[in-house]
Amino acid sequence: MGYFGEGQDVTFDGPVFPTRGGTVEGVLAALDEVYGMDADPVRGHVMFYATTLMEGHPATEVCRRAYAKYMKKNMLVREIAPGLQRLEQEVKRMAIELLGLPDGTRVNMTSGGSESLYCGINAAYQWAKDVKPEITQPEIVIPYSAHAAFSKWCHYTGIKIKRVPLGPGYRANVEAMEEAITPNTIMLAGSAPCWPYGLYDPIESIAALAEKRGLWMHVDACIGGYQAAFVEKLGVKLPNWRIGQIPGVCSMSADLHKHAYAAKPLSTIFFKNKELQKYHWFHPADWPSGPYATEALMGSFPASSVASAWAVMKYLGEEGYIELAKATLEARKRYVEGINSVDGMRCWDTDLCVLLFETGALDTLAVMAGLFERQSFVFPIYQPMLIQVAVDPVSVEVTDTFVRTLREVAQGVREGKITSEPLMKLM
Ligand SMILES: Cc1ncc(COP(=O)(O)O)c(C=O)c1O
Repeated sequence: MGYFGEGQDVTFDGPVFPTRGGTVEGVLAALDEVYGMDADPVRGHVMFYATTLMEGHPATEVCRRAYAKYMKKNMLVREIAPGLQRLEQEVKRMAIELLGLPDGTRVNMTSGGSESLYCGINAAYQWAKDVKPEITQPEIVIPYSAHAAFSKWCHYTGIKIKRVPLGPGYRANVEAMEEAITPNTIMLAGSAPCWPYGLYDPIESIAALAEKRGLWMHVDACIGGYQAAFVEKLGVKLPNWRIGQIPGVCSMSADLHKHAYAAKPLSTIFFKNKELQKYHWFHPADWPSGPYATEALMGSFPASSVASAWAVMKYLGEEGYIELAKATLEARKRYVEGINSVDGMRCWDTDLCVLLFETGALDTLAVMAGLFERQSFVFPIYQPMLIQVAVDPVSVEVTDTFVRTLREVAQGVREGKITSEPLMKLM
């Protein structure tokens, strides 16, 4: 299983599970060897470490130690563990404070952006059962660029999904979204920003439409939320995106394991108030073990991720996050200048942390293949063909290594020495 395709069939010559266990040193040495097979943090940053901070940054060390300390603990039973409760409550409160959300905003933790989106759609569905009981075939209307997780959840649940073509400039087309609304529509959504193009949808207009038509509105700030809050403090003007700031927004997702730099898996879903959060909860009791109260979809929930978020937030504080946002903007500038200086390459204007570039006359997939061969992994965008980089507060070494590699690859593609063939095997 992976980003590019389903799991390959893997065959081994002999058994993999040992009859006799190993030694601590032996197992860890073997693990080091496997770890070393992946790209190093400098070359692999764009894909492996993107949004997780650099290996070697002190906040990463704090994160690692907090994670290890709590690795055996389970948030599922926090009611009987005052320490876990404290961690949970402080992380939730810090999330609200650092995003600048009003008191009364409610928050739940989930395993990541996908789960937060599932919870947003589910809350809309439960709400619609309450306020629009006549709907038997619920539908959601979202921009074409919204994350794939919206489609996954609709596939799992049978909710109909309508992805509406984007307007000029690759942002949501609100008029077209309005036209797509039917009597069965329960929810609208917009991204802040979207993953494919790094652009903010007109959240205020979509929310106004949702209010006008009596629909649930979800903002997907999974990748942007915890970065935007600090970039704005540096004076960068972004379109309004926050729950609490825009009246029609009912729920919003923002991932702690992205630009809040907690360990994976951890995200937050916010509800405008307790009234709307009630559509999130489901505590089944129809089995022999009685009530089973969970935070979201997961049952057992790693306390290690929550502890990592707590530790990183306390370590960085507002000033630390602002410093990182500043470093991110600087890294972004350096990437843009470097990439634009490679013959034929041109960066797009994006709003925040997702950088895109065209490869001009060069075959984009061949450029990607060359980057992959050199372990400078990047993400593809297919409509149109673009290369995507998720920008972090990385060092000059990371940006410059990438640009140097790109220059070398571009030359190889130009001379016909690098083709897309090796990449095709992955897809
Ligand atoms: C805008 C957006 N939404 C949702 C997700 C899904 O997040 P996750 O990979 O944590 O499930 C992502 C991931 O990059 C994203 O960028």
